[in-house]
Amino acid sequence: MKNQNMNIRIGLVFVAVVVLGILVISNNDKTVSKFSLPDKQALAEEFNDAFRENKEPNGTIIEYAITAEPASIELPSGTITNAWAYNGRTPSPEIRLTLGDTLRIPFTNNLPDETTIHFHGIRVPNAMDGVPGVTQNPIQPGESFVYEFTPKDAGTFWFHPHVRGSEQLERGLYGTIIVEDKYTQSLDQDYVIILDDWRLSSATTINETFNHPHDIAHDGRWGDITVNNKVSEIITARPGEHIRLRFVNTANGRVFQPVFSQPVQLVAVDGMSLAEPIPYETMEVAPGNRIDVEFIAESDFSVVDTFFGRLNMLLNVEVSGEKVTSTIIDYPKSIHIPAWNSAEAISAKPDIEYVLDADGGGMMGMMAFNWSINDDLYREDTPLSLTREEVSKIRFRNDSLRFHPMHLHGQFFKVIARDGNPVDEPYWRDTILVHGVETIDVMLMPRDVGEWAMHCHIQEHAEAGMMTTLIVN
Ligand code: C2O
Ligand code: CU
Repeated sequence: MKNQNMNIRIGLVFVAVVVLGILVISNNDKTVSKFSLPDKQALAEEFNDAFRENKEPNGTIIEYAITAEPASIELPSGTITNAWAYNGRTPSPEIRLTLGDTLRIPFTNNLPDETTIHFHGIRVPNAMDGVPGVTQNPIQPGESFVYEFTPKDAGTFWFHPHVRGSEQLERGLYGTIIVEDKYTQSLDQDYVIILDDWRLSSATTINETFNHPHDIAHDGRWGDITVNNKVSEIITARPGEHIRLRFVNTANGRVFQPVFSQPVQLVAVDGMSLAEPIPYETMEVAPGNRIDVEFIAESDFSVVDTFFGRLNMLLNVEVSGEKVTSTIIDYPKSIHIPAWNSAEAISAKPDIEYVLDADGGGMMGMMAFNWSINDDLYREDTPLSLTREEVSKIRFRNDSLRFHPMHLHGQFFKVIARDGNPVDEPYWRDTILVHGVETIDVMLMPRDVGEWAMHCHIQEHAEAGMMTTLIVN
């Protein structure tokens, strides 16, 4: 009896020490300075207007009306299926404009569901960002809304609904917006390669069971790979042509890892140009990501996806005919990307840590499987506040075993560390694939004010709660 009491007492003391320890640690945690001010200033100076604050409109207005409606579209197999489409096609007809042009989209919703359009990667005024309940009300069936903005950056962007994306994108609503500049206009060929997949229920129709619990609990809905809605793509070229290929992953969940059978140069990631082209080394192109590569056509080559070991042919470049002399202008020299790799930057405590994890939701798994950020589902979350023009560090800590391609609206960020180890990515991103049980640190210089969405780009995960917002003041 006495001994037992003693044990209990020792136990209580032990618990008290542990609790005290946790209090001290967490208290400590709060007082550790995130960055010292001089460090923040140095990082801000390094940013040095790396992407422009504003682009003066050149006065040209490109008016491009879009209607979303049910449509019959042709699958790669040649059969016709029911889909939802922008202007009757999926992918939607490509939109191209020149940097400085203003894009005006009178949009009509003829779907049987409410919707919005989000312009992924384009730095638009907050009210044009297409996030229901945050930047606008959802557009009801039969209603219209006019989107209008002047993109601030040249590059490869895309657009898609931000309402029930796991169904609306998968039914076929998405398209690309290419903002050209003088350099890309001087290229001999400039192609968009849209990577996606369809899940079919038979050989002939798309599977209309969306948000399947299995897909939610795993890495979203995966299906048969398509390239520009074909089984694979063919590009024909003449020797000597300088060609850009803009890869866009519009899939709900599938990750691609394109491998080229000849060397190519990486010139842009997520729409933003690199300071200078670098040799492309295999990259993961997660849902939302874009990569632009360039090469001079010499002989035939192919691009395959290798993400899951099984090789999938994505495209073939066929080179024939008479040699041409390319007359492209020099790669722009004005682009600069901060390194943000000082020991202080790498070791500084992040302004916020986002813990990404499943949320079992209630007793005995009776409730739906959800995905949370810091234990909150979207709409239970507290928006993060950031200060404009103040360098911030964000940590994504994935406590789950699934993929989470985290996407930030309205800002670009730079990956600076993986699992605490510095990484050198000489480019901006708007989406980074966080692997299972991985921690990724990113740094950003918020410039565009407003409340911006941040979410996992696996549509089924976002729908299941993995979304929050961030307010730039
Ligand atoms: Cu392309 Cu909020 O997403
Ligand atoms: Cu996810």
